[in-house]
Amino acid sequence: MRCSPLLLLAPLAAAFTLDISSTSSIETAASSIAYEMMTAYVGNETGEVPGLLPGSLSCDPNTVGVYCWWEAGAMWGALINYWQYTNDTTYNSVVSQALQFQRGSDNNFNPANQSRSMGIDDQVFWAFSAMDAVEANFPEAGDDDPSWLSLAQAVFNFQRSLWDTAYCGGGFRWQVYSFNAGYNLKNSISNGGNFQLSARLAYVTGNSTYGDWAEEVYDWMESSPLLEMDNSTGIFYIWDNTDTDNNCSDVQNYVWSYNYGTMLMGAAYMYNYTNGSSVWLDRVETILNSTFTLFFPSTYGGNIMFEVECEAAKNCDQDQKSFKAYLARWLAVTGLLVPSTMDSIKTKLSASATGAAGQCDVSDAECGLQWYTTTWDGTNGVGQQMAALSVVGANLIDSSMTPLTKVTGATSSSDPDAGTTATSDPAETTSKITTKDRAGAGILTVLVIGFIVGGAAWIVI
Ligand SMILES: *[C@@H]1O[C@H](CO)[C@@H](O)[C@H](O)[C@H]1NC(C)=O
Ligand SMILES: *[C@@H]1O[C@H](CO)[C@@H](O)[C@H](O)[C@H]1NC(C)=O
Ligand SMILES: *[C@@H]1O[C@H](CO)[C@@H](O)[C@H](O)[C@H]1NC(C)=O
Ligand SMILES: *[C@@H]1O[C@H](CO)[C@@H](O)[C@H](O)[C@H]1NC(C)=O
Ligand SMILES: *[C@@H]1O[C@H](CO)[C@@H](O)[C@H](O)[C@H]1NC(C)=O
Ligand SMILES: *[C@@H]1O[C@H](CO)[C@@H](O)[C@H](O)[C@H]1NC(C)=O
Ligand SMILES: *[C@@H]1O[C@H](CO)[C@@H](O)[C@H](O)[C@H]1NC(C)=O
Ligand SMILES: *[C@@H]1O[C@H](CO)[C@@H](O)[C@H](O)[C@H]1NC(C)=O
Ligand SMILES: *[C@@H]1O[C@H](CO)[C@@H](O)[C@H](O)[C@H]1NC(C)=O
Repeated sequence: MRCSPLLLLAPLAAAFTLDISSTSSIETAASSIAYEMMTAYVGNETGEVPGLLPGSLSCDPNTVGVYCWWEAGAMWGALINYWQYTNDTTYNSVVSQALQFQRGSDNNFNPANQSRSMGIDDQVFWAFSAMDAVEANFPEAGDDDPSWLSLAQAVFNFQRSLWDTAYCGGGFRWQVYSFNAGYNLKNSISNGGNFQLSARLAYVTGNSTYGDWAEEVYDWMESSPLLEMDNSTGIFYIWDNTDTDNNCSDVQNYVWSYNYGTMLMGAAYMYNYTNGSSVWLDRVETILNSTFTLFFPSTYGGNIMFEVECEAAKNCDQDQKSFKAYLARWLAVTGLLVPSTMDSIKTKLSASATGAAGQCDVSDAECGLQWYTTTWDGTNGVGQQMAALSVVGANLIDSSMTPLTKVTGATSSSDPDAGTTATSDPAETTSKITTKDRAGAGILTVLVIGFIVGGAAWIVI
């Protein structure tokens, strides 16, 4: 821990110096950042629950030091990526144990302990980590444990049964269970998450059922207010959520980097899976261009990733502090799947990694979130570590790390029927809460930030 308050406003004279042109420099930085991230994890110790971070049994994203279940799931994926980037196997067995322990009785990442806050988005982040394993031939857990691919397929099958045509002409609700607050909302990370998962399953297996489904989810989102092209500015908006109580006639105007990332990544897989469809290329470019405009503001030089709703004011919640991790990884993979985008993406990833290193303390590798300054922002935690790890590591990605498919060598065994007998009845849930604390769906009041296109100014209203 950094203990001296005097450091708070002092420049990080002792920040990492990252040589972005040196593989060994990047690997050393990634290793230190990963190590510091994992000091938060005790789930592999006696008496603890594998797979969980502190607070994951009843999370409150507004409490520093605790982490919702989904973020733990995402962290295992970041460590799979880390292994893929560096060949460092230090965390592999911990990752395997965690993913399998939290798979739930239906093998679809819906463990009963989490039903009080289980969202489509929460589940899908665990499924993304399973797909990271599939696409990199991360070692299977072995014994009788289900394959990584079948776990992701089970999530797909389970979620597809929850598609809701009764309101708004389709779409996924945020929550799996009607007793959870937020069940009325249809949000971008749930729909976009399922879209990405489906696109990845199509790409890996070649099974058109998944590709057709990804199209259907995208088409519904496009017909809903969640996706909006502002013709006057050329900015493509991916808004946070819309409400079934109003038949999805309104929308919450928040933009989050992980929503852009998840749609970009799904579109990139669809582009590659369709052997280069012009429709998907246009979507990739449209989302990518607006991602650059919104999350790499010219105010900070135009190449450093920035969580626009909350980063400058330092009021990102625990969930939001991790969002840049996903955009970083997904940009890198987009560059592989849509080669025409790689050059512009690399420019952003290298500048952002250098910026991230400037927020990391050289003595213990604790990192803050404000990558645009070398003045430490005074925060640390799993989200910040994961974001730094992902953006630094992403600079190691090369064509040998292109996601594998069944044709190009992915070995995880397929079970298209996995999870089809699962129900959404939380049989083991005895208590029920009416307020869902976790946010990320714009429930928190955040700064309303207007962006003046064409200028360099950000107005905070
Ligand atoms: C738990 O995992 C960490 C790696 O993150 C490792 O250093 C530690 O030895 C493990 N603890 C046990 C009890 O296996
Ligand atoms: C990891 O190991 C494999 C097999 O030994 C090798 O082909 C690959 O180049 C290594 N990757 C890195 C990033 O060192
Ligand atoms: C569910 O919670 C119980 C009680 O804390 C714990 O023993 C069990 O391991 C947990 N299971 C999972 C999958 O988290
Ligand atoms: C609700 O929205 C859907 C799709 O947007 C539309 O088809 C339907 O007519 C609407 N229903 C009502 C009651 O407005
Ligand atoms: C924006 O332009 C697109 C494509 O030209 C068009 O389909 C859409 O209706 C326009 N939107 C608005 C609000 O004018
Ligand atoms: C892409 O091309 C391959 C090889 O020609 C073909 O097998 C596959 O069906 C094509 N995919 C799509 C979605 O058209
Ligand atoms: C799909 O990705 C592979 C791997 O990077 C790349 O070689 C190929 O050109 C991509 N397909 C298209 C249509 O761009
Ligand atoms: C995205 O930006 C690039 C570079 O400025 C431009 O060439 C391309 O036409 C844009 N594409 C879309 C769909 O906006
Ligand atoms: C493709 O996926 C669908 C949906 O899971 C499944 O029903 C079908 O059997 C799969 N087809 C093949 C050839 O695996």
